Amino acid sequence: MSKKLYIKTWGCQMNVYDSKKMADVLAPLGYAPVDEPDTADLMILNTCHIREKATEKVFSDLGRLRDIKKEKAGQGQKALIAVAGCVAQAEGDVILQRANYVDMIVGPQAYHKLPEMILKANGGERAINTDFPPESKFDHLPGESAPQGPSAFLSVQEGCDKFCTFCVVPYTRGAEYSRPPEQVLAEARRLADSGAKEIMLLGQNVNAYHGGNLDLAGLIAAIADINGVERIRYMTSHPRDMNDNLIAAHRDIPQLMPFMHLPVQSGSDRILELMNRKHTAAEYLEIIAKQRAARPDIAFSSDFIVGFPGETDADHQATMELARQVNFASCYSFKYSSRPGTPGAVMGGIVPEDVKDARLQELQALLFAQQKAYNEATVGKVVPVLFDRKGEKPGQLLGKTPHMQSVYVDAPERLFGQTIDIEITRAYQNGITGTIVTTPETLIPNEPPTPTEREAA
Ligand code: 5AD
Ligand code: SF4
Repeated sequence: MSKKLYIKTWGCQMNVYDSKKMADVLAPLGYAPVDEPDTADLMILNTCHIREKATEKVFSDLGRLRDIKKEKAGQGQKALIAVAGCVAQAEGDVILQRANYVDMIVGPQAYHKLPEMILKANGGERAINTDFPPESKFDHLPGESAPQGPSAFLSVQEGCDKFCTFCVVPYTRGAEYSRPPEQVLAEARRLADSGAKEIMLLGQNVNAYHGGNLDLAGLIAAIADINGVERIRYMTSHPRDMNDNLIAAHRDIPQLMPFMHLPVQSGSDRILELMNRKHTAAEYLEIIAKQRAARPDIAFSSDFIVGFPGETDADHQATMELARQVNFASCYSFKYSSRPGTPGAVMGGIVPEDVKDARLQELQALLFAQQKAYNEATVGKVVPVLFDRKGEKPGQLLGKTPHMQSVYVDAPERLFGQTIDIEITRAYQNGITGTIVTTPETLIPNEPPTPTEREAA
């Protein structure tokens, strides 16, 4: 009998990928995904611990799941609740103490153990697995139960040995691990066979990849040889692991998209040192310059943290200056959030909240203006857009340019999953819009219109 599975996902792409993998693990047990928890037999919260309030958010969601579980129990039905991800890993014991209705706690390295955990939980016992098992979970995860669509995630590396002093990842995801290239290539082939045109390689420190005798550039070259793979991307990189091979790959491999997410966090050498980032601002700028020399149109994005302990106005201005020098296409920026157990949590020089707010505002004003200017510069150009999502309104498709800009276009549904030339007509801060450049493929439908197209017409 088919059972229903609800998964809510917080946080990074790695969690999105993990949620898909949990669904793959559970598919052979008869679990089919649903969008709402109300009817689910198994409810999983896949959590993120990177910034504050994560645990509180989990508890507020858990309250709702508890009510659903109770209601179902009243009707003689059983529903299981699992907390997965980095909050489970870091605070599993707190969750178990505070929420006695939670049946399973499963850390990011133990998803392949879910079937046996469910057996245990169905027997009335609570099941906990937050081990960092010596065997790789990747060796035990099944193939995909459903296609991911035109743009697919593929996890190639996990964990981190960098120990930036603000970050929980080395504690929640464990030591750095690269999947063997054969395993990655087999998964990439399956994704391409199931219709993926773009593959996004994921890793907390993806450019530290070293599987077999391949570095990330070598892995990308091998994936580029797979039939049907039109676009390759990767994230997230660390400046320290940037090598010349990867820089050259952006010049030499046409499928590798001209976009690099390279977090810098701060533009002040003093703060970079306190953060244990293992590089200076000048070294970061040197990588950018080298990469631009190899691939002049490459777009950069980054992550920033303002208000790290000890950050002065001068340090903040150094960050502003670095952002001005690079001129980013898009960025994420955050206020520093003290994480228990990290070295940053016990550092002196705490920056007051109002100062953090003001610094974030100043930085974001600059970064948003850069993003808008970047998007505006594409107006009037024709760019190839891979339509990878359907819009909320029928007759609208969403996609990405090679430079990772979001594009919204009025387009028939049959172009979903295709890469189509779009003439960009308008730019916003968060995206661009345009019209389809007419070609025989876009003009003459070679199949009857879909119901949605008929409705839209
Ligand atoms: N506080 C604020 N931001 C953080 N990040 C990681 N840890 C923290 C923290 N304690 C940010 C970094 C990282 C991104 C994924 O999240 O910028 O690159
Ligand atoms: Fe965290 Fe630093 Fe590792 Fe990135 S490199 S996951 S910020 S410790």
